Amino acid sequence: MSDLYNEKYRPQFHYSAPCNWLNDPNGLVWHDGIYHLFYQHNPTGNDWGNMHWGHATSRDLVHWDNRPVALNAEPMGVGYIFSGCAVADPANSSGLATAGEVPLIALYTSCTTDGIQSQSLAYSLDDGETWRQYAANPVIENPGIRDFRDPKVFWHEESEQWVLALAANDHIEFYRSHNLIHWEHASRFSKPYGSNQGVWECPDLFPLVTDDGEIKWVLIVSVCPEHSARDESVQYFIGDFDGVRFESESTEIMWLDYGADNYGAITWDGVPKDDGRRIMIGWMSSWRYAREVPTFPWRGNMTIPRELRLVSSGRGLELATLPVREVENIRANIARIDRVSADDPNLQAVFARLSPELLDLDLLFEWPASAARSFGVRFTNSSGEKLSIAVHTGTGTLVVDRTAVGQRVPNPKFARRFEAPLRETDGKFNLRVIKDRASVEVFGDEGRAVISANLFYDAPFERVELFCLGDVDVSGEVSTLKSIWTPDSISKMQETA
Ligand code: FRU
Repeated sequence: MSDLYNEKYRPQFHYSAPCNWLNDPNGLVWHDGIYHLFYQHNPTGNDWGNMHWGHATSRDLVHWDNRPVALNAEPMGVGYIFSGCAVADPANSSGLATAGEVPLIALYTSCTTDGIQSQSLAYSLDDGETWRQYAANPVIENPGIRDFRDPKVFWHEESEQWVLALAANDHIEFYRSHNLIHWEHASRFSKPYGSNQGVWECPDLFPLVTDDGEIKWVLIVSVCPEHSARDESVQYFIGDFDGVRFESESTEIMWLDYGADNYGAITWDGVPKDDGRRIMIGWMSSWRYAREVPTFPWRGNMTIPRELRLVSSGRGLELATLPVREVENIRANIARIDRVSADDPNLQAVFARLSPELLDLDLLFEWPASAARSFGVRFTNSSGEKLSIAVHTGTGTLVVDRTAVGQRVPNPKFARRFEAPLRETDGKFNLRVIKDRASVEVFGDEGRAVISANLFYDAPFERVELFCLGDVDVSGEVSTLKSIWTPDSISKMQETA
């Protein structure tokens, strides 16, 4: 087992389970200084099925400790444990605490062996370490809909009640409750809003403050891409919520990520007010090929955690996401670039020295306003593979092209060129690239244009270089990133396993 967490495509700073299958993030809750990350997990196989909730914890969203499986499938009882959420219940509104503990309450979809999906409750009285099933599950019965799942709950302060959103085939249903156990139907959000090219899954609803200090509500919904030609799969809506009904401001389809590898993304509940961030994580894969990716003994990992902001532009309000600042905790070999021409030999030398495996590139490109430019970053190796990340200001696009990176995934849907539209570019562009061993996450336009993509290369990349057409100046910071899986953390993990 000495190679654990050091296999060919193993993420070095994105969370993946030590072994076996992982999909959606579940039960994201901050409690008592700890970020909990539960996840869809098959502890007995490297493929989807036999769903349990795996568990990991972190103090900084970057270093993760593996914990024992939290919720076990009960094929003869509630069934398999599908996606859901967790909240802390400090007022003990559920009545489930008996000795002054703060109960953690998980609401998740229980799926029977016959495929009937209902919402069930489990709770922990020891800060998330061990969990018990509520005796009278399910708490929301299936109303006769095949796809009826993925509850996400939050405390709505204005109306002093718990609110639950779940996905029901092609729409979202909202419920409300005073005790997390008895739920009353509140409203429905459905067509003509958003993309319906696939079943809706994994909703999340939360408030964000705009630059003008106004509160807006954001609803996030994943759309399963399995049977569509589309790559993007996490859409969002901006609007208002009064405790009963969500009203979207627009029927336009808005995507949170233009790559294929971000699904079931949801946010942490309970992040303290003095921190104030809304932080999201997604499953970094796609139902179009997730079950065929060539990794062993694990399959599936999370995106980098991202902070969400509402920003306004010529297109109105948009949701922007950028990596959480804690990524700085694993930076090394930092080189600062102080406004030099992109073809300056010293700058080229900075890139030539970089080992391309684990990187954080935070770059600002500047050029004379109103002129068109193309520039970006390229990864190559001597096997002829190439990953290209390009900004074309003339067409207003950010492009990540992985078509020339290996062909290790048998599914033809994998080799893709992803394109994100940009706002008007006015002589300035910020490009952030987070590169792990076998993935890249690209953030352009201050987080409005995001592309997440896995890379299953034949041989590791050997070089990373800047390229540009036309004169462009570059500023910023480039650094390598350290693996979170050190020999120490792995031996500690093996001792406690
Ligand atoms: C989304 C999803 C959820 C479901 C879970 C099952 O990826 O299909 O809708 O609860 O995965 O693992």
